[in-house]
Amino acid sequence: MSTKKHLNIGLVGYGFMGRTHSNAYKRVNDFFDVPYRPVLKAVCGRDRDAAGKFAGNWGYESIETDWRRLVEREDIDAIDVCTPNNTHAEIAIAAAEAGKTVLCEKPLAMDLVQGQAMVDAVEKAGVANTVWYNYRRVPAVTLAKRLIDEGRLGKVFHYRAQFLQDWTISSDLPQGGAGLWRLDAAAAGSGVTGDLLAHCIDTALWLNGRIDDVSAMTETFIKERKHNLTGKVEKVGIDDACAFMCRFENGSLGLFESTRYARGHKALYTFEVNGEKASLRWDLHDLHRLEYFDHADDAQLRGWRSVHVTDGDQPYMKNWWVPGLQIGYEHTFVHQVADFLENLGEGEPTAPTFRDALATQAVCDAVLDSAENRKWETVVPV
Ligand SMILES: NC(=O)c1ccc[n+]([C@@H]2O[C@H](COP(=O)([O-])OP(=O)(O)OC[C@H]3O[C@@H](n4cnc5c(N)ncnc54)[C@H](O)[C@@H]3O)[C@@H](O)[C@H]2O)c1
Repeated sequence: MSTKKHLNIGLVGYGFMGRTHSNAYKRVNDFFDVPYRPVLKAVCGRDRDAAGKFAGNWGYESIETDWRRLVEREDIDAIDVCTPNNTHAEIAIAAAEAGKTVLCEKPLAMDLVQGQAMVDAVEKAGVANTVWYNYRRVPAVTLAKRLIDEGRLGKVFHYRAQFLQDWTISSDLPQGGAGLWRLDAAAAGSGVTGDLLAHCIDTALWLNGRIDDVSAMTETFIKERKHNLTGKVEKVGIDDACAFMCRFENGSLGLFESTRYARGHKALYTFEVNGEKASLRWDLHDLHRLEYFDHADDAQLRGWRSVHVTDGDQPYMKNWWVPGLQIGYEHTFVHQVADFLENLGEGEPTAPTFRDALATQAVCDAVLDSAENRKWETVVPV
């Protein structure tokens, strides 16, 4: 018999992230001994039939077609926001005001002002909160954090990251509506900056500390696309590509690039950190490996090692299979839920909190401002 406390989940949005989170809630107690058991209480979607199908498939007990109704329900403990970016603030703030725990997808908000209102709401209500910057919980990335915190890299000189895709190259691709809201500035807020670079920035702030100022350029390669909701050809308001350089508070220099026009790349998130004593790099397409170069190695054998991060001594891995057997993308969400439920039991916050995610939002805003103004921008401290 389980003695775990129940955490009744109300999921809003049953698309890509709705699936990854549902999978994580279902699997977490099978692999992690945490004090709570998530219960799939209700899923909310505007299309009753589709929501019903999702509920049947994943085992949700009930459905709602209006998120406001979900937030009002007494039997819901936590609201999980898995909807497009322009809906995060309204849902998360209402959930916090109703006293619910809030888990929100990234980017936190459309901009810093909206994000600040979300932080204020969860902090005023005193509710547990987290933002799903899940790449922190790839074991190889968590290991990178451990190595940096142990001082193994020494003084850091360079941080560089890329997130490359190629799925929007066709000018026939429309913008807006289901599946294509990412191309619609009104729903997404920005293009690759908020969608992809936000991940790179979150990881960078976590690994390498605050970014002080940025100088960016963006480009919208396809200027007009048919809009699925209006049926008209409309101006494209998102950035298709963004590159920026920055200075970190620790004195290191950063280079970041993201595009959806890198033919051949589907989700190539890579980062590299170069320190005085050692360097490390990671690649999402080979996510269970961390590459590491240690200058202290025997000179004759010195070189880049490719560490297969599957050992029980390495982050999260003792909860899975046996050394040598790797895990994948979906497990990062299981890890975030596991950490969240563990911390909830101890009354501790789970990073990235809304406030942590606001720092990423501040960098995104500075990047977009810099690209527009064609000058260096200071990142607003949060
Ligand atoms: N952590 C990650 O790696 C990651 C990956 C992909 C997406 N995301 C983020 O997750 C969020 C959702 O993205 P996605 O890829 O799952 O999108 P998606 O288009 O696959 O799903 C969005 C869902 O929201 C629903 N929806 C939209 N408006 C709604 C409303 N008012 N009420 C209820 N439901 C509504 C849609 O019907 C759909 O079910 C975005 O903020 C995105 O940036 C994060």
